[in-house]
Amino acid sequence: MTSEHENPSKSRDLFDSAREIMPGGISRNTIYREPHPDYLAAGKGCHVTDIDGITRVDFANNMGSLIHGHATPQIISAVTEQLGRGSAVTMATQSEFELARLLCLRVSGFEKIRFMNSGTEAVMAALKAARAITGRSGIAKAEGTYHGTYDFAEISQNAAPHNWGDLEKPNSVPVARGTPAHVLNDVVIFPFNDTQRTLKLLDQSATELACVLIDLVPQRAGLIPAHAEYIKAIREWTTRHNVLLIFDEVISFRMGFAGAAEWYDVQPDLTTLGKIIGGGFPVGALAGLDRFMSVLDPAQKEIPFPWSGTFSANPVTMTAGHVAMAMYDQVSIDRINQIGQTAREMINDLIAETGVKASVTGAGSMFRIHPKAVAPTDYRSTWQTMEERHKTKLLVEHLYRHGFMMFRTCTAALSTPISQTELDQFSDVLKVGLEKFW
Ligand SMILES: Cc1ncc(COP(=O)(O)O)c(C=O)c1O
Repeated sequence: MTSEHENPSKSRDLFDSAREIMPGGISRNTIYREPHPDYLAAGKGCHVTDIDGITRVDFANNMGSLIHGHATPQIISAVTEQLGRGSAVTMATQSEFELARLLCLRVSGFEKIRFMNSGTEAVMAALKAARAITGRSGIAKAEGTYHGTYDFAEISQNAAPHNWGDLEKPNSVPVARGTPAHVLNDVVIFPFNDTQRTLKLLDQSATELACVLIDLVPQRAGLIPAHAEYIKAIREWTTRHNVLLIFDEVISFRMGFAGAAEWYDVQPDLTTLGKIIGGGFPVGALAGLDRFMSVLDPAQKEIPFPWSGTFSANPVTMTAGHVAMAMYDQVSIDRINQIGQTAREMINDLIAETGVKASVTGAGSMFRIHPKAVAPTDYRSTWQTMEERHKTKLLVEHLYRHGFMMFRTCTAALSTPISQTELDQFSDVLKVGLEKFW
């Protein structure tokens, strides 16, 4: 048997050198993989090729941000033209107006919008805006949900049985060592999709809360869509208590023309965006009702919430985002969501056929495969034991070795160039993986 180290690998050599000057050899833990990450040579459509010449189908799409896959000709051409005119400038640009207009026309609740550079920043801006508007500091969020790395937004993202506490009052669990105690005190954790417990917990902190932050299809908490009555109940509660309702649509905006929000008969006060709206470039945005967004307006004597950012709304991102979102029309959305549905049905069939303990969740163009016989319904039932985690790792590695790149949680976020051909190939590889490792 040959070990990894006996095979020549340009990626491994590069990683060995990178490790000497970068912690862990990388800039984001997302791409860490053992024994080393592979380095990109080129991506095209739904495929990526590494510098050792191996091509894979990309089901990760830079964590769900490349809605049209790699090297989209229309984006390359628009961005190249923009680069010739400048990449960043201490001026306003028409490109930011164009993307702002496109998004505001798309979603009725986006009366105003402001751009930033990442989803993390968008969530941070949303929470700070909510505090500036209400004069309160409390944030309520669902257990296990990922909203980026702002202190308040990341609490309980990785809560585990030994520290998550009673479901009636889940603990605020820090992610980074050294998180200030006041941050933990300012964050109320509620169980996702559990209306009764959520409302009870909100009631207990009603006078301290600035906002309720919710992802409608939280990937880390199981990739399970929020129930309509749950979101409705939270909306009614937040309205009654003058607490802002913030939808985090950084990843779920791909679900529909107006994001996942269009499934619900509910109007949030603010929405955070990121990923696909940047057309493959770093982006974030905060959008919402004028009466709340005005907290950012600098044309006031005292600005309640000042916000800048050196690269915010840079014309390269704005141009790419405009092209990508214009191309992501209803026809394109229906098609990719249908492929997502076909993939989930195909995976369910494979699970039944192989008889392994597995399940699949998801919506639209996303799916997640769980090493659990019964599909999880919330974060606690999604949480994986050491053994389940090991199974997930083995399956994700198997898929990778045989040509499919997934999120580490065995999640896929498809891109529009995907076709039935890739799904059929995936089905063959997945079947072997399920039989062998699960
Ligand atoms: C729901 C949600 N919010 C916020 C973020 C953070 O976005 P970014 O990685 O661009 O900072 C993510 C990233 O995956 C996300 O999925």
